Amino acid sequence: MNRMNLDQIIHEAVVKHMRRPLIVAGNWKMNMTVREGREFLEKLGSVEGSVLLFPPYTTLAALAPEMRRKGVLYGPQNFHYEDGGAYTGEISIPMIRELECSCLLAGHSERRTYYNETDEALSRKTARGVRSGFQVMLCIGESLEERKNGRWQKKLIEQMALDLKDLSFRELGSVLIAYEPVWAIGTGVSASLEEIGETHRLLKLAMRELFGRELPLLYGGSVNEKNAFDIGSCPYVDGFLIGGASLKPEKFREIIEISKRV
Ligand code: PGA
Repeated sequence: MNRMNLDQIIHEAVVKHMRRPLIVAGNWKMNMTVREGREFLEKLGSVEGSVLLFPPYTTLAALAPEMRRKGVLYGPQNFHYEDGGAYTGEISIPMIRELECSCLLAGHSERRTYYNETDEALSRKTARGVRSGFQVMLCIGESLEERKNGRWQKKLIEQMALDLKDLSFRELGSVLIAYEPVWAIGTGVSASLEEIGETHRLLKLAMRELFGRELPLLYGGSVNEKNAFDIGSCPYVDGFLIGGASLKPEKFREIIEISKRV
């Protein structure tokens, strides 16, 4: 049921080339105990449409039924491409399937940077996730240095090409991309509207060239209730991936409401 909702939304965005409704996704990172998550959901109330949360594993498992009741779609922040075995600290697709998740997050820049997640590992993960029947939200993003020295375009296209290299045209229909400039994450300063517009346009064109189709493209990096309307109004922005502002139910709710008006 949950998965159907997201499928339908993505189908509309991609096939009919409609940008609305925007997808609003919250990445809780290593925040939110079960108790805090429960309080968050109580304050948030019920939601409709394409609202997604990526809680940490313990909170994800404990609050999955409550998220379903509220109409919130959900999934893990990371997952392994093997079904089981000697991989201390990892979590597998069969474990995730038990929780009735809709969407899996992959390749967040914090995982790439702090845990050396490689494009090779990500190509295995995206293929495994999609072939297991999940939507996969792949994060891509350039560093400040790459933005400044002009290598950002190459970097972003390379990440998409490498991380999705094993997927067929049909399988790519289960992939969403979150463009998150690393220099805008958690800084309180998002990319400018011009930068977002230019980058998203470039990425949509690159998707057509690489894959023969466009994929939904979210922006992430210091999105909040004050800039969501303007960012959501940029061409080729299909939604948001939100860190800090997704931890406060009032702010997250406000962004959800804004996303309906864009
Ligand atoms: P931020 O994080 O909204 O706090 O910048 C975004 C993210 O890392 O997904």
